[in-house]
Amino acid sequence: MHGLIAPHGGKLINRLVDAATAGKLKSEAQGLPRINLTPKQSCDLELIGNGGYSPLTGFMGKADFESVCTKMTLAGGDVWSIPVLLSVDKSKAPKVGDRVALHAPNGVLQGVMTVTETFPHDKKLEIPNVFRTEDPAHPGAAKVLEEGDTCVAGPVDVLTLCVDPEGPEAFLDMRLTPIQVREQFKQRGWKTVVAFQTRNPIHRAHEYVCKCAQEIVDGLLIHPLVGETKAGDIPADVRMECINILVANYFHPEHTLVSVLPAAMRYAGPREAIHHAIMRKNYGCSHFIVGRDHAGVGNYYGTYDAQAIFDEVDGDNLGIRPLKFEHSAWSKKYGGMVSQKSFPWTEGDIINLSGTKVRDMLKAGQRPPAEFSRPEVADVLIKWAQSTG
Ligand code: ADX
Repeated sequence: MHGLIAPHGGKLINRLVDAATAGKLKSEAQGLPRINLTPKQSCDLELIGNGGYSPLTGFMGKADFESVCTKMTLAGGDVWSIPVLLSVDKSKAPKVGDRVALHAPNGVLQGVMTVTETFPHDKKLEIPNVFRTEDPAHPGAAKVLEEGDTCVAGPVDVLTLCVDPEGPEAFLDMRLTPIQVREQFKQRGWKTVVAFQTRNPIHRAHEYVCKCAQEIVDGLLIHPLVGETKAGDIPADVRMECINILVANYFHPEHTLVSVLPAAMRYAGPREAIHHAIMRKNYGCSHFIVGRDHAGVGNYYGTYDAQAIFDEVDGDNLGIRPLKFEHSAWSKKYGGMVSQKSFPWTEGDIINLSGTKVRDMLKAGQRPPAEFSRPEVADVLIKWAQSTG
């Protein structure tokens, strides 16, 4: 026994088939009805395949869906906060017992599914429970509203771990599966590992919470989400360039690992914080950073709602422990990074720039203050901002 945290549900799922089976499935798929996955569904399928969604072995059935919405657990009792659904238009829904071919948005055959159940997509149950709002403008709710009215459930076999290996967001050398990440931890002798989720360009507050967390564990996994994000978010390849340059210059290589999480953002704030934590548990992490407005968007969630929700679930079942950080930024008076907990915040002392201000500066070719963003990171962002016109 090495001592890494056990996967959620006790066993790491692997639905990725070997090359011989993949060949057979490809031939079979030619005669099967086809479902064209959305980017979100394709991300979900990759995570079922690689075990990031353990204990799920396929898209959810009705009992799991309803239990997740109302109780934040799977029907079997394991904590789970976000529905993982394959919904299609009723007219295109297969029948129970059918085999169907699942194609990624770029047309690649990503998986094959055996349909065990179909049921109506109860968006009125899903949206308010998961997103804590019924506002159709919420980006996560908007996606659900666009989805089909019929959910198709059943176990999947996954043919490929990356549907676009040549694409700019493949990051093949860093697209490690939970098995591979766990192997990396073992090789480095890490038993306790803190994961850092991020979907934004890495800034000084991110760096600060990572470093604070790193002090109490063996290793830090910087685990940026590189699946579907909303329009307006910075592309994953640019964010990865920022992370790589930051880590190369400012982190300890023996205690830091960078890998990518091929998940789609839901912007579900608190519920998504639990979801993010469960995935990281499957990747072998014992601790998970939850800072200010984790996975939030606009003003839908309170600053610390995503921390409070960890008190609403069964912590023993969840297993992975949240490390909660208050809003952090540079204090001129203190001369370093502080949180609202460690130093009193006063007007004019804290360097806290709005997203709009930062974007304007980058477009104009100006680095934000070094107390907000490392100059190396700022230069990557300036290059990107100026190339996008
Ligand atoms: S998120 O959607 O992935 O949560 P982001 O990449 O901005 O967005 O945040 C990554 C993590 O850093 C989250 O846990 C978030 O709460 C935390 N965080 C972001 N900014 C701050 C900050 N200024 N102070 C403390 N924590 C922060």
